Amino acid sequence: MRLGFLASHGGSNMQAILDACAIGSIKAIPALLVCNNRTAGAIERSQKANMPFAVLNGKTHPDEDALDQAILNSLKDAQVELVVLAGYMKKIGPRVLKAYHNRILNIHPALLPKFGGQGMYGMNVHKAVIAAKETKSGATVHLIDEVYDEGPILQQVEVPVLPEDTPEILQARVLTQEHFLYPDTIAKIASGEIKLP
Ligand code: GRF
Repeated sequence: MRLGFLASHGGSNMQAILDACAIGSIKAIPALLVCNNRTAGAIERSQKANMPFAVLNGKTHPDEDALDQAILNSLKDAQVELVVLAGYMKKIGPRVLKAYHNRILNIHPALLPKFGGQGMYGMNVHKAVIAAKETKSGATVHLIDEVYDEGPILQQVEVPVLPEDTPEILQARVLTQEHFLYPDTIAKIASGEIKLP
């Protein structure tokens, strides 16, 4: 199975998946990184792993539809079969969504369907969880569709929310678990244990 990553920032989840592919615990080939941000840490990580990358964004393609098509072309050229969103801060265009229907994974740093949707990204999520006095949070790997954070859930992991938690502390606790959950989910898809619709 050939993996294509879309990332915008550090790419620590992508790294966890690359590492799992390197040691054979995920039976898949990291084929391509598409990144909208030329200075993202994810690019350096892709270079270290000898995985090709492409920078595609509103500067390289000012027209939204042309950008969508360019991203699709890159994924197809690299023969990507499963698209892995790894901290990608842009909306996926309709062409990519259609071509990779039920083949685009995302990880969200909360227990969906709670704390998902518009504006629920980065630290906003953890602030909202603490403000709501939740006693547990976690991470969710799900398929994406046209609506943010609403595709079928594949796997979740829970972490406690402690009374003295700051959003930063909670984020770190969740991220540590993301680095196990995301590779584990992809390993199970690659082995057939998780069947995509
Ligand atoms: C993670 O918190 C993930 O849940 C969210 O974006 C963040 C990406 O972090 N979708 P990284 O770039 O993988 O370090």
